[in-house]
Amino acid sequence: MSDILLALQDVHVNFPARSNWLGRVTERVHALNGLDLQIREGETLGIVGESGCGKSTLAQLLMGMLKPSQGQCSRGRGSNKGMQMVFQDPLSSLDPRLPIWRIITEPVWIQKHNSERERRALAEELALLVGIRPEYLDRLPHAFSGGQRQRIAIARALSSEPDVIVLDEPTSALDISVQAQILNLLVSLQARRNLTYVLISHNVSVVRHMSDRVAVMYLGQIVELGDARQVLTSPAHPYTRLLLDSVPKTGAPLAEDLVLRKTELPGNRTLPQGCFFRDRCPLATQGCEKKQALLPQESGRDVRCWRALEDR
Ligand SMILES: Nc1ncnc2c1ncn2[C@@H]1O[C@H](COP(=O)(O)OP(=O)(O)OP(=O)(O)O)[C@@H](O)[C@H]1O
Ligand code: SF4
Ligand SMILES: [Mg+2]
Repeated sequence: MSDILLALQDVHVNFPARSNWLGRVTERVHALNGLDLQIREGETLGIVGESGCGKSTLAQLLMGMLKPSQGQCSRGRGSNKGMQMVFQDPLSSLDPRLPIWRIITEPVWIQKHNSERERRALAEELALLVGIRPEYLDRLPHAFSGGQRQRIAIARALSSEPDVIVLDEPTSALDISVQAQILNLLVSLQARRNLTYVLISHNVSVVRHMSDRVAVMYLGQIVELGDARQVLTSPAHPYTRLLLDSVPKTGAPLAEDLVLRKTELPGNRTLPQGCFFRDRCPLATQGCEKKQALLPQESGRDVRCWRALEDR
């Protein structure tokens, strides 16, 4: 079993949504609602779920940019090198006024007091690694295409030699043909640099292609967690079955018998009672008014649905 680099235990995150004239918070957005998750050294952990389910909040929490309102987020002993993040839109995450060699070495600039010559040498090495020609290092970000800018963002993330990289929708702003190139680059870098990836995407095909394990999120909780191939080819939770059915696929339909009872997501200001998926779940029945725990199934995955456990 590989080392645990990061562990989240019953993590909750909420944000103030409304306050009264005294400045007292009267309403909160519940973004994460009891998240348990471990990140293992060397893996790619995919995170999927609808818009608003808390994926980016989870990313910020992992990066230490947010503190949990409740629960624990701890780093394992195996790791002390740090984390970096790659965002969806490379243009807005790269300073438009800086030549890219400066952008690429920005993280080490802050950490260590390297000389300018050392930083340039590092930028050259990283540019070659991600497929950017070193002659272009003095250019500004807008001189590059979307795919090249994402390569620059990846080089920047690598400069501080992190052990974990959180990729938040790293290819969703790119053309399909460029997406594949960036994903292949990420795969080859992972092997060469011994990296652990947390890959956030609402694109199930991307996650299936890249991940060892996958966590399916719904309303700030994980509803299914396990081997990516297994979860994404024979999903156990009704929500995962519906999520997969909504993406184009090649095989037989997985959930032709299932239809969402409501199309809109429930709000996250007042959380549902019992199972969070109950008012949309086509399998909801008596018993679902009880709070559901994420429990291990015989097949080795974890599922938050008593009916899925009963069926197998
Ligand atoms: N800083 C914030 N202040 C208030 N509410 C926030 C804040 N950040 C996130 N939220 C809310 O928390 C919930 C989860 O947001 P989050 O960005 O994590 O979702 P997501 O899964 O990344 O969605 P998407 O797929 O659209 O990127 C949403 O309801 C969002 O509006
Ligand atoms: S516990 Fe009930 S409502 Fe929740 S997902 Fe399972 S069947 Fe559906
Ligand atoms: Mg997001």
